[in-house]
Amino acid sequence: KIPVIIDTDPGVDDVIAILLALASPELDILAFIVSFGNTDVNASYANILKVYQAISVHLEHHPDDKNRFPNFFGSNPILARGASGPLHGEIHSAHYFHGRDGLGGITERHPDLDLKISAGNPALHPQLIPTDKSGAELALELIRSHPARSITYIALGPLTNLAWALRLDAATVRERIGLVVCMGGALDVPGNTGPVAEFNFFADPYAVKEVLLPSHPDAGIPLDRFILAPLDITTPHELPFSIYKEKVDPLLETSASPSVGTCGKPPLTHFTSSFLEMTREIMLGFGKDAMELHDIVAVWCAIDNPPVADEGGDGMPTLRKGWKSLKRMFDIERTGELTRGMLVVDRRDQTAYPPGANCAEVQAELERHLLDHDALGSTALPVQV
Ligand code: BDR
Ligand code: CA
Repeated sequence: KIPVIIDTDPGVDDVIAILLALASPELDILAFIVSFGNTDVNASYANILKVYQAISVHLEHHPDDKNRFPNFFGSNPILARGASGPLHGEIHSAHYFHGRDGLGGITERHPDLDLKISAGNPALHPQLIPTDKSGAELALELIRSHPARSITYIALGPLTNLAWALRLDAATVRERIGLVVCMGGALDVPGNTGPVAEFNFFADPYAVKEVLLPSHPDAGIPLDRFILAPLDITTPHELPFSIYKEKVDPLLETSASPSVGTCGKPPLTHFTSSFLEMTREIMLGFGKDAMELHDIVAVWCAIDNPPVADEGGDGMPTLRKGWKSLKRMFDIERTGELTRGMLVVDRRDQTAYPPGANCAEVQAELERHLLDHDALGSTALPVQV
C-alpha cells in the first residue's frame, strides 16, 4: 500500500477525489490536511466530516457496501487543520463555484439530508483521529516517522501547507518525501481563474514559488519527486452528468435495504447527487453538461505511480502504466496586475535557465485518456465493482 497524505480544500472535486481514495485499496491514507481554498479552512474541515458521516450513514443502512470502501475501515487518518490563508496577501476562495460551504450549498439546498452532520464533532467519526497540530507540523511528523521516500503527498488545494512544512524543516522534507503529486497550474491552456491562472496556484502563488520554483537549488521539493497535474491534463477529463446519472448513480444504488430519509435514494447517492447539483448548473452556464475531474486525476496518478527508490537520475520522476511526463520550463507570476498565479512558460533555449535558478524543469503528465468514463464509472466514484 502507498502511504499518502491528502492535502485538500474540499471542494466538490476534492470530495470525489477523497471518495476515490477511500475506495482504493492501493492507498493507506495517513492524514487529511485541510486548508483554505475553495472555501475557508473551517468549512474544509467540516466537509471531511460530512464525507465520513455520509459514508457512515450509508453503511448503517447498507452494510453490504462495506467492501466498497476498504480505506474507510482500513485506515485511521489523522485530520489536521492547515493554512487559513496564503503565505502572503489576501485570501481568495472559490465560493462562486463550490458554494459557500464548499459543497455546492448542500446543507441549505437539502435540509432533507439525513446525514446528522455535526461539523464541530469529530468524535462522531471514530475512523478519524483529530489533532491540534498544524497541517505542516503533522506532515513533517509523518514524513519523519515513516520510512524515507515512502510517502506520497497528494496536494489538491493551494500549496501553502507544504510550503510551511518546508519552512519548518526543508532538509527532512526534501530527503524523506517519496513523491508529491500536485493538481495545479495551467501551462498551455487558459486558466480557470481569470484568463491565465489556475485556481490552486492563483490562491497562493508564493507557496508554489517556495515549493516548486525556489531561488536556491537546495530548497523546495526535488523535481525528480514532483509530478504536476495542471489544467492541461485535468480539464479534458470530464464526467458528463448524463453518464453520472446512467452509469454512476445506479452503481451507487443498492437493493440490500431501504433508504431512509433521503428522497428514496441510498444516503451516499443522495449526498453525491446533491452536492453535484450546483456544479451542474454552473457548468451548464459554461455550455458544458459535464464536470471536470481536476483533483480526481491527481489521486488517480498517485495510485498508478508509487514512489520508487531510485529515480533513474534524469531529473524526472518515474511514471508507469501509460502515464507520460513532459519537461517544461516555467516560473510563476506572484504579483501581476492581471497575471497572478500564471505559469510563465519559457519556450526559448532552455539551457539558459538551469533548474533551480529562475525556472524549473517540471513534469506535466499529458496522457489524457487514462481516466476515461468507463474507468470513472468503475473506480473513480465511491464504488469498486
Ligand atoms: C482546482 O481548483 C479547485 O477549485 C479544484 O478543487 C481543483 O483543486 C482546479 O483548478
Ligand atoms: Ca481542490
